[in-house]
Amino acid sequence: MGSRKKHRQAEDFEEKWRNRFRQFAKSNDDDAGIAGWSSSGLETRLRYFKREFGEAPKSGIWLDAGCGAGTYTRFLNSGEGQVIGVDYSYESVSRARQRPSKGILWTVADAKSLPFRRETFDGVLCFGVVQALSDSEPLISSLASVTRENGTVWIDALNGWCLPNLWERLKRYIQQRPLHVRYESPFRLVALMRENGLADVRLYWQPILPQALQQYQWLMETQLLFVLFRFVPPLAALLSHSILVVGHRHARKPKRGG
Ligand SMILES: C[S@@+](CC[C@H](N)C(=O)[O-])C[C@H]1O[C@@H](n2cnc3c(N)ncnc32)[C@H](O)[C@@H]1O
Repeated sequence: MGSRKKHRQAEDFEEKWRNRFRQFAKSNDDDAGIAGWSSSGLETRLRYFKREFGEAPKSGIWLDAGCGAGTYTRFLNSGEGQVIGVDYSYESVSRARQRPSKGILWTVADAKSLPFRRETFDGVLCFGVVQALSDSEPLISSLASVTRENGTVWIDALNGWCLPNLWERLKRYIQQRPLHVRYESPFRLVALMRENGLADVRLYWQPILPQALQQYQWLMETQLLFVLFRFVPPLAALLSHSILVVGHRHARKPKRGG
């Protein structure tokens, strides 16, 4: 395929998602609906995130990029830091602002070109965005650049190696239909984090069952499966719908002779 055609397809893909997100915010009232998640999907994601992140931050400046209805923004704000929620959809930001959110600053902006100085934030979250972009690199570069030394960047993505996602990719490839969402390779996401100056990158598997199978979700969250995933990563890769990645911004090396 020619590079011009590829470029146009990438633009179309992102434009379709931008419109979808605006529409979700216009036609839904609940956080999950506004973000385009199922209600159980959002609950499970939030639970997995909190398990790794711990309590809301006690200090610092925090960014939630692609904040949607502000579910994670409000969680961050329940601590004592300063929190900013950003989304490129004006409609989503308006919805987020309608909820009790004392002290949170809201901005409409593209996470790929954030209107903040370099090294502004102690921590950045960006959830549900990678899947609506044709490439993760510009986003990760943008998030890493606004993060301070020793600050953390948390990103999630739909796992391209998960069995149902592999099947969906194969089906669409055979039918010559474009993908509806973009699945990411866990290796690539980790590599991109490192290439953008993020160190100690850790990957967490997120096995999330569809809403119709929610009565079995607890099976995916047992200690046994958790331990199995740790020792048999290929199993985790095949069964985890999503991945969560965190990286720490390197402290810059002192200049020689400076
Ligand atoms: C799937 S929703 C997730 C919302 C929220 N982070 C959550 O996990 O509940 C993705 C959100 O990211 C926003 N978004 C997608 N691409 C973006 C971009 N390039 N810049 C800013 N916001 C973006 C969408 O408008 C949408 O509100």
